[in-house]
Amino acid sequence: MKVDLLVVNAGQLLTLAAPAPRRGADMADLGLLRGGAVAVHEGRIVAAGLQDEVRSRYEAERQFDAGGRVVMPAFVDPHTHVLYGGGRIAEFELRLKGAGYQEIMASGGGIMSTVRATRAASDEALLGESARRLARMRAQGTATAEVKSGYGLSVEAELRMLRLTPALAERTGMRLVPTFLGAHAVPAEYAGRAEAYVDLVVEEMLPHVVGLAEYCDVFCDEGAFTLEETARVLRRAKELGLGVKLHADEFAALGATELAVELGAASADHLMVTPDAARARLAQSSTAAVLLPGTSFGLKSGRYADGRAWVDAGAIVALASDCNPGTAPNESLPFTIALACRMMGLTPAEAVVAATLNAAYAIGRAGEVGSLAPGKAADLVILDAEDYRELAYRFGSNLVWQTVVGGNAA
Ligand code: NIG
Ligand code: FE
Repeated sequence: MKVDLLVVNAGQLLTLAAPAPRRGADMADLGLLRGGAVAVHEGRIVAAGLQDEVRSRYEAERQFDAGGRVVMPAFVDPHTHVLYGGGRIAEFELRLKGAGYQEIMASGGGIMSTVRATRAASDEALLGESARRLARMRAQGTATAEVKSGYGLSVEAELRMLRLTPALAERTGMRLVPTFLGAHAVPAEYAGRAEAYVDLVVEEMLPHVVGLAEYCDVFCDEGAFTLEETARVLRRAKELGLGVKLHADEFAALGATELAVELGAASADHLMVTPDAARARLAQSSTAAVLLPGTSFGLKSGRYADGRAWVDAGAIVALASDCNPGTAPNESLPFTIALACRMMGLTPAEAVVAATLNAAYAIGRAGEVGSLAPGKAADLVILDAEDYRELAYRFGSNLVWQTVVGGNAA
């Protein structure tokens, strides 16, 4: 059969062919073949297998020689705040001198300073700055990313962020999944009136978000939204047909993880201070545990989510960058993997599954991306390495030699 493209000479081909989501021992199953090839037609994978078999069945005008390198699914980043204006370098320096993240937030900086910069930026400026960040993410292997709103915090400014997300996808050639995070912080105009702001989110924002966002997320934490406020927003979101997600247990364990299970959330994210009993409940559910080691690193915190315990408990563990201007100006899933192995106890194979197939599951894309299975999008990464474990071992260099999205290299 004739196809558009054959990627040949993969020294290691990681197909991740077994079904998603992965838990426990299955998280280490990479479907690794030595000497592999991938056949691609009309942007989709037709076959991924041993080179001799694939080559005997498929012919292509275009061949891409991987030269013995690793070929694997492109990364999926299931938690980002990559769309924003301005930066927080001054705040970073304050934190280097000892100021706390929540302290800065309480004094009107932090998220609110990005809200001011985002509101003030033109559409073009927002798109331009964010597209540059996404281009760097793509250069490090990310083809699909979730993108949260949450730096608008007014009806118009939140809807603008969601409307700009498809334009950003178009500009970068990446697959972006929009999430509404109107409950990210109580904006200055509503200081001391959190309930009135939650009314605005529930009554004025959410109905307009339908059709623009796939998920609704809430930052449930000390200094952000209470468990009751979170439940109110997410219950309404569910009624309107949105998927739900939570920023849970980042600084304080308020019960957000249990709420995620109760609501059948797609994911609970952060989980840095989750109590054992809550971990056990989430691990038995179909809600993914999205871990963000770049955030702990960015906060200079010694406190990382216990990735080993999450995998051993049987949770659907995924990894994400949390790319945001405050806690994690992190554009690299390879660096996130390197951290997850050192600081959270994951093995390189588990970290790869967490940043591809399980990450896709966490944003409802496991049928489309995250593994090299026939019918899925031809999103793959070629590493300038002969062993996939280099991804975890090396850090500070970019091992991604090529990111292919829908059969096209950048
Ligand atoms: O995931 N925790 C809340 N939101 C982000 C930080 C956003 C910011 O500081 O701008 C996070 O860490
Ligand atoms: Fe976040």
